[in-house]
Amino acid sequence: MHPDVEQILLTDEQIAQKVEELAKQLNEAYRGKEVICVSVLKGSAIFFADLVRKLDFCVHFEFMIASSYADSTVSSGILKIKKDIDQPIAGKHILIIEDILDTGNTLFKLKKELLSRRPASLAVCCLLDKPSRRTVEFRPDYVGFTIPDQFVVGYGLDYNENYRHFPYIGVLKPECYKK
Ligand code: IMP
Ligand code: MG
Repeated sequence: MHPDVEQILLTDEQIAQKVEELAKQLNEAYRGKEVICVSVLKGSAIFFADLVRKLDFCVHFEFMIASSYADSTVSSGILKIKKDIDQPIAGKHILIIEDILDTGNTLFKLKKELLSRRPASLAVCCLLDKPSRRTVEFRPDYVGFTIPDQFVVGYGLDYNENYRHFPYIGVLKPECYKK
């Protein structure tokens, strides 16, 4: 275990098992369909790569970079899209794949933006959900693990761009983000 990690919350075996379960649900829901799977970078890169390899319907890849910034005048924040999907999505099935749902601001805005482009369907699959931190009403369609309000890193998740490459998800020692 890395010295900056206080505790391993989810081992690589637990994550792999959950990815299998999520893929099973998705394979049932999307049987026979063509689906654009959208990885929201950078956090979802590892989850995305593991999950798509378990899917048996027709999968296309897209990548987005988006973040939401708090704004005192807009309670739900402002969405900034740094990299957009490369194609029109009207009439297509869209599956957004995210690492973690925290306040919900990013996905709330992102979903609204993508829905305005009139896809045939839009669903959100999140590996982790911290519902106690939610500031906007948002419910993902598929969730891996519901976790307590702790700052976690690894399996794609970072603090200051560090720790993304860990195979497990661990709780970061508070002194590491307070220093
Ligand atoms: P929100 O749902 O808009 O608050 O933001 C979600 C984003 O915040 C995620 O995509 C992560 O980049 C980041 N985030 C939230 N909680 C954590 C955490 O525990 N570890 C690492 N990143 C986090
Ligand atoms: Mg992220």
